[in-house]
Amino acid sequence: MDGNGRWAKKRHLPRVAGHKQGVDALRRTVRACLERDVQVLTVFAFSSENWNRPQDEVSGLMELLVLALSREVPKLSKNGVQLHFPGDSAGLSPRLLQGLQKAEQTTAGNERMVLNVCFNYGGRWDIAQAARRLAAEGREITEAALCETTALAHVGDPDLLIRTGGEMRISNFLLWQSAYTELFFTQCLWPDFDAAELDRAFADFAARERRFGQTSEQLTSAGPSSGGLSDA
Ligand code: IPE
Ligand code: MG
Repeated sequence: MDGNGRWAKKRHLPRVAGHKQGVDALRRTVRACLERDVQVLTVFAFSSENWNRPQDEVSGLMELLVLALSREVPKLSKNGVQLHFPGDSAGLSPRLLQGLQKAEQTTAGNERMVLNVCFNYGGRWDIAQAARRLAAEGREITEAALCETTALAHVGDPDLLIRTGGEMRISNFLLWQSAYTELFFTQCLWPDFDAAELDRAFADFAARERRFGQTSEQLTSAGPSSGGLSDA
């Protein structure tokens, strides 16, 4: 969800004002995804590297999360959304951690859509924490074991990754999980993101041929059900 700061700067507003608009964009996007029967939505809200931002911006983002939790969780839950907050709990305040845990618990039985809000998340952190856990349990570090142990193990690998804000990079998001993810980059700043932009990304995605290492001919002769790594 990139571009909040630039959105605010264009309007001569403080960066935190852009993040506030970003929460509105997320609310809109969740609604659009529910309407389109999206089963899993994963957003990057705060990266392992975002701690390096000015302190008032970091605390502003933390406060926004606390506020959004108290405002949004009841509505999300009513709409059948199951919440998860993949990320490193180290460095988060006990109050925030308690809020995240409670939101996960109260929405655990919901089945319409999974919403992963990655907070204090980094793709490298995720791979390292999974390997560390396997090693501590004396298990062999295999691809399958790592898949089961990453912070996103409760969902399939993402089909589509949308990056707003115009940068053409992954910035340490789902490094392990995005091996075969289709990438969509848009100039649209996150606070401007809406259902129309989501549909543009979906239309682009629908026109792609996903070969998962196979040839185009193999896919057409074997039918659509073979060749995929995941059905997510
Ligand atoms: C939001 O956008 C990303 C978050 C960490 C919440 P930015 O704050 O990175 O916005 P730009 O890139 O400065 O425009
Ligand atoms: Mg940015």
